[in-house]
Amino acid sequence: MRRKLVAGNWKMHGGLARNRDLLQSLIQAVGKGGKSDSAVFVPYPYLAQAQDMLKGTAIAWGAQSLSEHAQGAYTGEVSAAMLVEFGCRYVIVGHSERRSLYGESNETVAAKFLAAVNGGLTPILCLGETLAQREQGVTEEVIGGQFDAVLQAAGVGGFANAVIAYEPVWAIGTGRTATPQQAQDVHAFIRGRLAVSDPVLAERMQILYGGSVKPQNAAELFGMADIDGGLIGGASLVAQDFLAICAAA
Ligand code: PGA
Repeated sequence: MRRKLVAGNWKMHGGLARNRDLLQSLIQAVGKGGKSDSAVFVPYPYLAQAQDMLKGTAIAWGAQSLSEHAQGAYTGEVSAAMLVEFGCRYVIVGHSERRSLYGESNETVAAKFLAAVNGGLTPILCLGETLAQREQGVTEEVIGGQFDAVLQAAGVGGFANAVIAYEPVWAIGTGRTATPQQAQDVHAFIRGRLAVSDPVLAERMQILYGGSVKPQNAAELFGMADIDGGLIGGASLVAQDFLAICAAA
């Protein structure tokens, strides 16, 4: 049985006072752990606050991106080693907003994935198709291409300590969730793709679903055979909603 993981992607939201309240509520409810795991992904400046408040609790924390480089003249970038110093366990890699708004190609995402793995972090690799791609019937081709670029760069060994998140772009922040069956189909496809290289690893790989997960739809999504939790955007900013989703897991 794979453990479920509920990961809150705060995106560019937060503030010291507001974070304190939100984290306090999470610590009270799930800080001692339970049947599923939880993690929060805060903006870089708040990593110290997350570390300070969450260390010693069952709630993990991480960043929303990282540089593919280890160090050097890369103004504005943050390395894996820096994230490790702030206690990060995970880092999100290849979120669709990074791909579409900041021009991250499959190759860039693969390089970031590798930087995370080499730096001792667990990457959460996001894969997902746009609405146009789904309507053209090329969902598997797109997801397969995104996945293969990382496999080629990191090898199957690179996935030994990784998490995958399927996030259909058309479902992110739109209130339009994939149906449990639509999500399950893609999750099974991704697991199958990994199984070609390593069936044992594929069986234990956590594959999260992301895209308008809410307290109302979480249980049904998480009930599908290949859905091992969620990457939660909007609902992760409201303690009550995030905790209800954790409870569903
Ligand atoms: P959403 O975002 O839950 O607000 O749709 C998910 C994500 O982008 O990770």
